[in-house]
Amino acid sequence: MLIGLDVGTSSMKALLVARDGTVVASASREYGFESPRPGWAQTDPRVWRRAAVEVLRELAGHPRAAGVQALGLTGQMHGLCLVGADGEPLAPAIMWNDQRSAPQCERLEREIGLAELVARTGNRLLPGFTAPKWAWVVEHEPSIARATKHVLLPKDDVRFALTGTAATDASDASGMLVLDCANRRWSEPMCRDIRLPTALLGRLHESHEPCAQLSAAAAAATGLPHGLPVVAGAGDQAAQALGTGIVQDGQVSCTIGTSGVIFAAGDRWRASPDGNLHAFCHAMPGRWHLMGVMLSAGGSLQWAREALTPDLASAAAREGIDAYPGMIELAASVPPGADGLVFLPYLSGERSPHADPRARGAFIGLTPAHSRAHLVRAVVEGITMGLLDNLDAMRATGLDPRSIRLSGGGARSAWWRQLLTDAFGVPTSTVQVTDGGAYGAALLAGIGTGCWRDAAQATAHLRDHDACSPGSSTAIPIEDFRAAYRALRPYFNEAHR
Ligand code: XUL
Repeated sequence: MLIGLDVGTSSMKALLVARDGTVVASASREYGFESPRPGWAQTDPRVWRRAAVEVLRELAGHPRAAGVQALGLTGQMHGLCLVGADGEPLAPAIMWNDQRSAPQCERLEREIGLAELVARTGNRLLPGFTAPKWAWVVEHEPSIARATKHVLLPKDDVRFALTGTAATDASDASGMLVLDCANRRWSEPMCRDIRLPTALLGRLHESHEPCAQLSAAAAAATGLPHGLPVVAGAGDQAAQALGTGIVQDGQVSCTIGTSGVIFAAGDRWRASPDGNLHAFCHAMPGRWHLMGVMLSAGGSLQWAREALTPDLASAAAREGIDAYPGMIELAASVPPGADGLVFLPYLSGERSPHADPRARGAFIGLTPAHSRAHLVRAVVEGITMGLLDNLDAMRATGLDPRSIRLSGGGARSAWWRQLLTDAFGVPTSTVQVTDGGAYGAALLAGIGTGCWRDAAQATAHLRDHDACSPGSSTAIPIEDFRAAYRALRPYFNEAHR
């Protein structure tokens, strides 16, 4: 038995997985995050630490948990968790979708230069990433920076609480922007320029490597064995890719969670020259990936659920069901292109392919003829087009995916899968894995403790489902969408300066 634990944005999830890859049990705890100012997103890491103990305790109570042999961790990437000498958090964790460090990014990109940043790390500096957040803390909270003993990512903070070990892995560390991703080692020049001593960073491992053991206190709190091996794990996107079988060179996936991600696995290092796609280490030695990340994909639909269809949301909540199928039904009731209505899904700014923290959401082209069904359809199409923008940026680097694996909440609707397939223009499929991130983390725990030789063997049992072929007409208004953003970009930049 293996456990995978996922420190998500809206919930903590844990899976108990058998050696044959079957999910035996799962547990989850929902939580939110705070946004004390526009563009800010933060959480007290104690919320994650407590939720981790609760879900692990729930799984430990399962009759088959007695045979558990290892724990793997994954989680939302890029978050800045600062731990003091007493092992306690010094401040709220600044999360992946927080935009406060835009000025630090602009300054550092000016000082270091884009080409040099890409040469050092493979990436450009974006406010979502960890390094500029540290630069923000150094500038705005110098006493907290001085008191910091460990700078950790969210899953690594949970590991620290469970084991007392400060460690990380190459895939998650890629998103800090202090990793030389090509060579899978810390970048001394980056650490120097953002004034982050490498001694504060956790020890760097490959994802499958056992690197810590469950402490006596955590064993008592969770009911899991003292000394249980904990493998390094992976950032949620790399773990999700592993958990859905995206491990070989050229395999591509699209995941719609809060964020929306196009992910391409590769067996050699390559950066996108303008840094507009992320070039990170994959969760396997000698593998990397290119990735485009929309900040509000499912997040836009979640916003629409509350703002446009609160009646559907509360009726669904009363019945204990999901409101999204009702919203998809509304969207499907109006024609493709929503009768000329375009939605830009940049509610939290955007990361790729437009590195634009000042972008905002917008409906363009409203007339009295538009109903809320049009609004909902425009939101779903806008998310789809944001994903297509990322796929096209990937195609521009020479990648030519023959098929795409869909996962996350957005892949549950057959109607939306068809829309995505038509937009992407290549066949799509899903795999029957829910909670792919936690599942990937459990597979890493198994690879690290001898259940499987490698990622290929660990994922050999995953099969394609829901095969979908592109339709003949792609009626998605991508040119209008792109023109709308181009026209509004100067406005966003003026309005939010
Ligand atoms: C990836 C990213 C998000 C978070 C939260 O770069 O920022 O996907 O990891 O899921």
